This record gives sequence, C-alpha cells and structure tokens, in this order.
Amino acid sequence: MSAEPKLINPSEIKISQTKMLIDGKWVDSASGKTFETINPATGEVIAHVAEGDREDVDRAVRAARKAFEEGPWRKMSARERGRCLYRLADLIEKHFDELAALETLNNGKPINESRSADLPLTIECYRYYAGWADKIEGKTIPINGPFFTYTRHEPVGVVGQIIPWNFPLLMQAWKWGPALAAGCTIVLKPAEQTPLTALRVGELALEAGIPEGVVNIVPGFGETAGAAVAEHMDIDKVAFTGSTEVGKLIMQAAGRSNLKRVTLELGGKSPNIVFADSDLDAALEGAFQGLFFNQGQCCCAGSRLFVEKNVYDDFAQKLVERSRKQVVGDPFDPKTTQGPQVSQEQFDKIMDYIRSGKEQGAKLLTGGNRVGSCGFFIEPTIFADVGEDMKIAREEIFGPVLSMIPFKDVDEVIARGNRTMYGLAAAVWTKDINKAHRLAAELKAGTVWINCYDVFDTAAPFGGFKMSGIGRELGSYALENYTEVKTVTVAL
Ligand code: NAI
Ligand code: MG
Repeated sequence: MSAEPKLINPSEIKISQTKMLIDGKWVDSASGKTFETINPATGEVIAHVAEGDREDVDRAVRAARKAFEEGPWRKMSARERGRCLYRLADLIEKHFDELAALETLNNGKPINESRSADLPLTIECYRYYAGWADKIEGKTIPINGPFFTYTRHEPVGVVGQIIPWNFPLLMQAWKWGPALAAGCTIVLKPAEQTPLTALRVGELALEAGIPEGVVNIVPGFGETAGAAVAEHMDIDKVAFTGSTEVGKLIMQAAGRSNLKRVTLELGGKSPNIVFADSDLDAALEGAFQGLFFNQGQCCCAGSRLFVEKNVYDDFAQKLVERSRKQVVGDPFDPKTTQGPQVSQEQFDKIMDYIRSGKEQGAKLLTGGNRVGSCGFFIEPTIFADVGEDMKIAREEIFGPVLSMIPFKDVDEVIARGNRTMYGLAAAVWTKDINKAHRLAAELKAGTVWINCYDVFDTAAPFGGFKMSGIGRELGSYALENYTEVKTVTVAL
C-alpha cells in the first residue's frame, strides 16, 4: 500500500518565474506593468506576473522569426528536434510534484486530478510528438510527362498560440508538441488566470536545449496581448482554444491582417445520451464525471444529459445521490473531488446561469448555491426537465451545472442532440451496437464516445464541427496545422 500523499501547504509552493520569455531570456514587459494572479481557492494574490502587450508580442515575434529563419531549429536534424522534446518530457516528469502543485495552486483543480490526468497527459503529449519529429513525410506523385513531382511538408513558420485556463499545462502541450515537432517557432500567450505553469515549462524548455527564440511566452490579457498575436503581420499561423466569441475575433483579425492560418478549438454543449438498455451504473458514472470533471470547466462537458423516459426518474434520483459523494473543498486535500471555479468572473457567470435556470422553470434537483465564504466554490448542481429553449440548455455554462432532458426514441434524440450551434463531442450509452453506430454516424460532433466519456489519447484527433471550431488537434492530424505542403516538379 502506498503512503498517504503528503498534504501540501500552498504557501510553500515555489513560484520560480513571473517574467516573460523572449529570445531565451526572462524579461520584464516593455511597459514595466505586472498583473495579479490569484489562488481561486482563497481569492488571495499569489504572484505578480509581467503583463505583455503589443510591444512585447512584437519583440517575441522578432525573436521567433530570427530563430525560424536563421537559428539552428529548422535546420537541425529532425531527429535532434525530437530529442529536445523527449528531454522536455523527461524534465516535466522530473518536476512532476512541483508542477502538479503549481497547477492546482493557480487553477484550483484537485491535486489528485492534476496528478492523475493533467501531468501524465502532458508528458505523454510531448513524448508522442517527439516521436513524430522525424516522421513528417511528403509524397512522390506520378504526373503526366517527363517529370518527377514530390511534396515537402515544411514548417509553417512563426506560430502564435493562445490558450485557456482550464487545462493550462495540457493545452500548452497540445499546442507546443506538434508545432515543435514540425519545426515551427512559437509565441505563446497563456491565459491571464493561469500563467504560472506555462512559465515554468518555459524554463524547462531552455534546460532541455530548445534553442533561444524557438519558444517565447508573453503572459497578458486577451484584448491586448492576445489581440496583438491575432493581428500580427509576421505570424504565419494562429492556434486558439477558448470561447466561440473570441474564436470569431481571432478569425476576423487573421482576415484583416495577413491571412495567417487559423485553427480554433471552441465551446460546446455536448449531448450525453443514455438509453434504457445500457449498463445504467456505468452510464450514471459517465453522466456524472462527463459533466462534473474539472469543476465542469471542460469544452467537451456532457452538459445536456438526455435520458430515455422509462428510466429517467430513477436515473435522476441516483444522480442526485451520486452528487452527494462529491467532496467540494480545499483542492490540496487528496480527498477533494471538486475544487473552486477558476475566477470570480467564471463564478458569477455560473451563478447567473443557475438563476436563469430557476427563473425559466427548470426543476432544481440539487445544489445551486455557493460553498463556503471565500474562494469560488459552487455546489454540484442538477436541473431536471430542462426545456430546449432555456438558456441553460443552449449556452455553454462551463461550471458544475448539469441539465437533464427526457427523450422517447432514437430519431427524436438524434434530432434534439444535434439542435445546437456547437459540435464538439457527444456520447451514447447503449448495449445495442446498431443503435450505437447509427448515433455515432448521425451526431454532428468531432468526437463520439460510446459507453465511455472523456477518453482522451494523444494519438486520437480532437476538435469541433460547426461553431465548436476549425481543424483538429492531437494525433497526426495536428501536424497538418503546422506544416505547409510544397510541390516540387523536376523536368527529367
Ligand atoms: P476567452 O475565450 O476570453 O479566453 C481564452 C484565451 O483567449 C485567453 O488566453 C484570453 O486571454 C484570450 N483572449 C481573450 N480575448 C481575446 C482577444 N480579443 N484576442 C485574442 N485573445 C483573446 O475565454 P474566457 O473569457 O476565459 O472564458 C469565457 C468562456 O469561454 C467560458 O465561460 C467558456 O464558456 C469558454 N471557454 C472555453 C474553453 C475551451 O476549452 N474551449 C476554455 C476557456 C473558456
Ligand atoms: Mg474572455
């Protein structure tokens, strides 16, 4: 039996870096400004971080451009690039405890989840793309005439990457892994709520031997630093994860500036569909975790829970019982299963949605209140009999609020499941394989889970239909986001 994990005292967590990383050096912002980053479990300020803006983004882009055009990165052997990524993964693993604690401190997610999900998935992502670095290949293509035609898959160039706060380390890995494997150089803007682990990984990237200027990190706000990335004339590609609203702004900015390539991973309102003929215990746990994991702050959260009518009441009652086992509290307590929401802003937004659910007549089965008096904790909240026109059924809540909707048959649930502007994920619970595959084919979503939920693997592509995004991350698909195809034809 393993010993009880040692209880971490948040005040003892080392914050080694609060400056920005430009051209291999840790520097203050051009304006000298900093912004506060807080511990969402207490609302207390834990650090002041360099606040980047347009001028800092400019400097970072210049460094990334130089590193791309002149530096050793693009010209070094692909295998050596891969070794840099393997070393980065090894260093993250070496600092596993420290990074897990820092992630929990800044984001509020339970330490057990930082340790069992965020860190292992992050390390695996870097290793997976390390392996791809020397396997990015073009084709030889038979064309008419005495010619020899082949394609080269070249790095797209300088890439801007704007990431959110819900999985800070992992979102950085999803972005950095394929970009670095392909030979691109990077300007990363972490979320203003959670800059700390990104900066620590920046330190480890230098230690891993990734040459200066290849990865640059400019912390700051979206409207300033983020917008400067999206509009920059010398960034060749922008990758964004966050709200659909900002995704549209990114695309507009790319259109107004230099037509930089755009990939977007945006919001969702994913249907989780439970048939009466499923393993109902497994479906119950899947329905619960599919929404409440990570405080409900998942783009693919199963926030519309469709349950077949004849088991609906019983399922609702069991879900409420299950929710009572959720341990809401100090994210550093290993027994905690639900921490605080990330910020006051998110907390307020979720409480507004709960109010709106009540006002519009959904049946509140459990929860709905704040927990405690400091930090941003919210009770696991379940609404039943949610009408499709209600705000809570249509808009992304991004919090611990589940909406239950009864349904009668297959055709009906396919139509209703698809009745959303989003299309990120969906899940189906049934033992009938015909039904399962029919739904998998007909649901308009980038990922469909059958008899499971939130199964992620670095090798499996992830991304959205409709307004959930453009492009796919992870797997070999993500490499396409970071490469340009060049056709070369030689007269023979
Ligand atoms: P957001 O979309 O505003 O922020 C995500 C990232 O974009 C952050 O790094 C932010 O600084 C940056 N950003 C914001 N405005 C920008 C702009 N004008 N130009 C360039 N970059 C900009 O998301 P926010 O405000 O943190 O959360 C709002 C809602 O978005 C959430 O309640 C949730 O519904 C959704 N969201 C979805 C996520 C996902 O994983 N798909 C992640 C985070 C939020
Ligand atoms: Mg925002």
